[in-house]
Amino acid sequence: MISLNIEKTLGFISKENVFAYEAQVKAAQEALENGTGKGNDFLGWLHLPSSITKEHLADLKATAQTLRDNCEVVVVAGIGGSYLGARAVIEALSNSFTWLQDKKTAPVILYAGHNIGEDYLYELTEYLKDKKFGVINISKSGTTTETALAFRLLKKQCEDQRGKDMAKKVIVAITDAKKGAARVTADNEGYKSFIIPDNVGGRFSVLTPVGLLPIAIAGFDIEKLVAGAVAMEKACGKDVPFAENPAAIYAATRNELYKNGKKIEILVNYNPKLHYVSEWWKQLYGESEGKENKGIFPAAVDFSTDLHSMGQWIQEGERTIYETVISVEKTQHSLQVPSDEANLDGLNFLAGKHVDEVNKMAELGTQLAHVDGGVPNMRIVIPALNEESIGGLLYFFEIACGISGYILGVNPFNQPGVEAYKKNMFALLNKPGYEEESKAIQARL
Ligand code: PA5
Repeated sequence: MISLNIEKTLGFISKENVFAYEAQVKAAQEALENGTGKGNDFLGWLHLPSSITKEHLADLKATAQTLRDNCEVVVVAGIGGSYLGARAVIEALSNSFTWLQDKKTAPVILYAGHNIGEDYLYELTEYLKDKKFGVINISKSGTTTETALAFRLLKKQCEDQRGKDMAKKVIVAITDAKKGAARVTADNEGYKSFIIPDNVGGRFSVLTPVGLLPIAIAGFDIEKLVAGAVAMEKACGKDVPFAENPAAIYAATRNELYKNGKKIEILVNYNPKLHYVSEWWKQLYGESEGKENKGIFPAAVDFSTDLHSMGQWIQEGERTIYETVISVEKTQHSLQVPSDEANLDGLNFLAGKHVDEVNKMAELGTQLAHVDGGVPNMRIVIPALNEESIGGLLYFFEIACGISGYILGVNPFNQPGVEAYKKNMFALLNKPGYEEESKAIQARL
């Protein structure tokens, strides 16, 4: 379903050294499987794909249908792992332009709660003024300020515009089973709610209702998405031999590159629809591995767009980077370059070629140039942008992340560093309970 090629890293590291990780990978896989490693209370994602039931998917699809029937727009309120997975899949699978048309087959999906931009929220609420809209309030903790603030605004607007009864129908909560303000509100207001399992952390939650509900509302087949992930769960299982397990090879190769001074991994795509897959990936690897003063810095570029900006740095800047290219084998549509008799633009040498042939040559040419420039390259090929492939790709990155984090020696499933800014922000905003911190921070200003 996906293939991984590390050949173009081998001028920089040796195959032998990559394969020398076999025992460490095995140990990481055993620790994940047996729950004996760090963060072992957050391993619910490991066999999540194969444990999703038909009934659960039917429940999600029924709720999605209610929102599809009653909303022109659905706002997904969430931040980090509580929105990036849904956005990654929806943008990868959506037509880039039909959402601009008047006749829509599915509600427009918009996002909020992932920033505190006053202008963003003002403009969103203005846009929603004449729309039949619904909201999915997604927060595992139920207390994340960015999301709670956006939801407070959206809940009031939805109730004011659509009435309490309709608001109850089109507001859904996805949160903890028992704790957090989002749970209290959902129970008090009688919203339909879904639970984020205790043992699944935000950035590993795309295959829970966190990702699946918005994806289903957007009109995509969540059964196929899950089927793709199930296939990848098998392909990357602990009993698959090291050499045949793409997640094992990816985890080993990136750790070997890191050991050899390649501190930055740039995820590259040649399809603008994959932009948010890269954003999701950045969060997955950044929050999982960047700790204890260690970890590869995950960066991303969209080519060929960014070849005209970051391309220079990548070709000739500091040699601490490597690239992982996601290549999509087959396009969804066919478009050929027309012939032009006058040939004023000199492009007749491309006449009759598919646009994707040009794109693929840009990809190949760039890979060769970057390798020549001292940038090791890995290549992940997926067959197409469809539900199965994307489901498989997401699970591949999750399992590789768990293995890679354990090889690095960190707990890939916590994010203690995220708390530092929150503490300061709450102290500065005089949040009740932060009186001591408020005094201390005032003294520093
Ligand atoms: O991966 C994570 O755990 C985080 O990125 C969270 O998803 C993010 O901070 C949002 O948290 P919550 O869902 O509790 O609002």
